[in-house]
Amino acid sequence: MTNGTSTSTPVKTLQEFDTALAESSMRGQWQYDEMLERLIGGPKSTVRAMLWKWEAIQKQLMEACAVMPESFTARRNLSFINPGLERGGTTQTILAGMQIVKPGEVAWAHRHPISALRFVIEGDTKLYTVVNGEPLPMEPNDLVLTPAWSWHDHHNESDGLGIWLDVLDVPLMLSLGQMAYEPLGQTTQQLLPDSSHHLSARTGIVRPLWEKPPTGDLPCRYPWKEVRRQLDVFADSDGSPNDGVILEYVNPLTGGPALPTLRCCVQRLRPGFKGQKHRKTSSTVVYVIEGHGTTRIGETEISWGPRDLFVLPTWAWIEHQNNSSSSEALLFSVSDAPLLEAAHLYREEPESTVRSRSVSETKKEK
Ligand SMILES: [Fe+2]
Repeated sequence: MTNGTSTSTPVKTLQEFDTALAESSMRGQWQYDEMLERLIGGPKSTVRAMLWKWEAIQKQLMEACAVMPESFTARRNLSFINPGLERGGTTQTILAGMQIVKPGEVAWAHRHPISALRFVIEGDTKLYTVVNGEPLPMEPNDLVLTPAWSWHDHHNESDGLGIWLDVLDVPLMLSLGQMAYEPLGQTTQQLLPDSSHHLSARTGIVRPLWEKPPTGDLPCRYPWKEVRRQLDVFADSDGSPNDGVILEYVNPLTGGPALPTLRCCVQRLRPGFKGQKHRKTSSTVVYVIEGHGTTRIGETEISWGPRDLFVLPTWAWIEHQNNSSSSEALLFSVSDAPLLEAAHLYREEPESTVRSRSVSETKKEK
């Protein structure tokens, strides 16, 4: 007689079965139940609401110059590491850092699948990044893109220090198993013969009609002068109740995000601005261009000033405030929103929506 189960093999306990599965490099889905319960009401991020003050950053950058005399291949870059992440990174998808290049230095040419951008803190017309053979000047508050697989080397031919904010999608590339690195094999790239060969001659308001239009990711430069002018155009607008006047840097050909994985924005908080409490599914790093303010991030409140850097974790409640009643505050931010939009996962909502939703749900329950 048999009922379909062997009478000779005793049934294991669940714990014994879990151990046996682990020995076969397998796992029962029930082992995730506790984690699923913790995720109710998410997304929930382990990323912490960090703030790095400029005074401390600057001190470390200057010390890095003494410790590491020449930048060359390794770059003299200090990354901002979020203690909430086991694998490093400033957020789960973004690695931010600051780089310092002394007068006369060159950071060697290389390329990689990582998309990167530079927002200039201390710059000059003689500080520049060469991207795919085109020199892009780096004046204060300019934004320069080095999209995935674009060749890039940095040069400081000015008399002063070159300092910029680097933002890269390193943690994302690590998760996707896409990390790679290719040195050019020589210090600098060959420059294109003249400006008629530059990509920027093809991505403005006119372009050569005898050529096919450029496609793909663009190694663009966004001069601060032009961005500032656009901010002034919207000076009297209310803008977003969450973020004030917030402008996105766009790919000039597509009108889409500056980089496929990273959204760059500049935002103006008018004097006395107090933003609506809101949350987003994206994670963001914020650099303070100018002004003083306070941002409430969940249970944490941070006070920021010029050149500070802070982190807005995924789905944390955010409230920005400009503490000055007479001066504007300007913020530059980079988020992973384009990725989430591609996956139909981007959401942004004010607290008022959640409150009214829970009130209506309570009424329904009654
Ligand atoms: Fe690089």
